[in-house]
Amino acid sequence: MLTRRGFAARIGAGAAALRMLPEMAYAQRAAVQNANMPSDMVWLNANENPAGIPRAALAAMSETLPTAWRYRYQDFRGIYAAIAKSEDLAPDQVMVGSGSSEALHIAVDSLTSATRPLITVTPTYEGPVELARTLGRPVVLTKLRPDYTADVHKLVEEAARARGGLIYICNPNNPTSAMTSKQELDWLVSNLPPDTTLLVDEAYIHFGDSPNLASALPYVREGKNVIVTRTFSKIYGMAGMRVGFAAANAEWVARVSPLRINVISIVSAKGVVAALEDRQNILPERKAAMSKTRGELCAWLKERNLRFIEPQANFIMIDVGRNAREFISEMPKLGVAPGRPFPPLDNMLRVTIGTGQEMAKFRDVFWKVYKT
Ligand SMILES: Cc1ncc(COP(=O)(O)O)c(C=O)c1O
Repeated sequence: MLTRRGFAARIGAGAAALRMLPEMAYAQRAAVQNANMPSDMVWLNANENPAGIPRAALAAMSETLPTAWRYRYQDFRGIYAAIAKSEDLAPDQVMVGSGSSEALHIAVDSLTSATRPLITVTPTYEGPVELARTLGRPVVLTKLRPDYTADVHKLVEEAARARGGLIYICNPNNPTSAMTSKQELDWLVSNLPPDTTLLVDEAYIHFGDSPNLASALPYVREGKNVIVTRTFSKIYGMAGMRVGFAAANAEWVARVSPLRINVISIVSAKGVVAALEDRQNILPERKAAMSKTRGELCAWLKERNLRFIEPQANFIMIDVGRNAREFISEMPKLGVAPGRPFPPLDNMLRVTIGTGQEMAKFRDVFWKVYKT
């Protein structure tokens, strides 16, 4: 229960800084820092989708814009219901927020404490780890296995040792693009220690093509102690519109919903509802286009005997055969911005799958830097 005193204690200097975290962190993490960037830079650093905003969403948003001088709070019940229905969930099992970041933020804030750690792998998406640390919550990082997959047994062991906590996995994982298989996910859910919640971040799940990759949403529907986050920033190509959601048990959603900043923008909300109405076309088309371009890059890498992690998302981690830090800083000078370094995978470069043309430029620049 969030008391007023507890709340006030959190809004100290640390928490005030925390509100700024996403923008500051994104800017600081970027591989490209200076203002002297080529104007035709190819941005392959943030796992965005070059397919862009779906046409149906754009039309709905344009139509909504002139009416956005009103809050339109009364529309949100229907909007949340449409988002829930798209995944066969009840409206009270869904918490919509500003990107999936808001849902992840609330999950970490409400389900970790001074004695309940965040338990995850390294490297993974930094948001939850950075938030837990800023809040002074313990963080347990487990190593990836040699095949770059999460060691689900270690995650469970650590949760048992801490007598409970929040296990966070990103599936497929950012930055590795590797997946936790359906079988391992099943084992993880069946073996969650007492007082332990599993948080599965499925930002990239739509891009995977392995038959062993499966969503954790069925566990939410079955009432297991599992929360799934989804976003409209990736396959839906709506990163700047800032919409995502958590799917979880209704009791948790009701308890933590007051932690949301507020409703999302009505323009964005109408856009995602329109995109969802057309998802039978949008999802397979976009997945096929990305898969084709990703496959071309994989084939090119194989021809050159360059190692990479088998990808399940819209990005690939490539082993550049030496410390990648300098490699990563050289590429933007030639007009391509890859992802930043991801220790402890020091020899790896992460690249987002862009358009065919962008990837042709990536291959060209990558090869120039590789050969120097
Ligand atoms: C794994 C993962 N989860 C969550 C997010 C947050 O995205 P958003 O807040 O746009 O949904 C990102 C952003 O890149 C991500 O890579």
